[in-house]
Amino acid sequence: MKNSVMLPAQLLPAVVAACLLLSGCSDPKSASGFRLPDGEVGAGREAFVRLNCHQCHSVAGDSLPKGQLADVITVPLGGEVVRVRTYGQLVTSVINPQHIINPAYRGKYTDPAGRSLMPDYNQTMTVRELVDLVAYLQSRYKLKPPEPAYPLGM
Ligand code: HEC
Repeated sequence: MKNSVMLPAQLLPAVVAACLLLSGCSDPKSASGFRLPDGEVGAGREAFVRLNCHQCHSVAGDSLPKGQLADVITVPLGGEVVRVRTYGQLVTSVINPQHIINPAYRGKYTDPAGRSLMPDYNQTMTVRELVDLVAYLQSRYKLKPPEPAYPLGM
């Protein structure tokens, strides 16, 4: 019976590592438990134009008014992707654009200090707008099956 419910001490680091990997359980910045209320695609599209997002962004499959900055900055959103754009990623792109800058835009659409040219909306955008924007953008991404690693039928 001795030690019947205890894990062998050698296993402890592996258990802790698995716990960290699976749930981010000890990271205060973990997004675990994060869940947005459902947004409205139509309202998100309206917010996109009202907040002037279309000045710098085109959206796949949607004909938005042409932005005045379209010749200077055009960052396409939506279209075919191989991995789902989670709302965690989209919310982060909107409220914390500096967090991850797509390598394709580094240098091109960043200032000399390496910061994104995307403006800060956090003082003016409502949470409702954010939620609807994310619903709108998610509706414009289309998941495409990954390329097979080798030609099929061989
Ligand atoms: C003045 C130009 C400008 C405006 C206005 C602007 N953005 Fe951006 N946006 C950028 C640039 C430049 C990037 C690429 C660099 C980066 O990741 O921040 C970007 C990146 C993004 C991305 C990530 C794209 C990717 O593939 O990584 C999203 C999502 C996004 N913007 C949404 C929005 C939304 C929603 C609005 C309106 C509330 C908006 N943007 C307004 C310039 C702009």
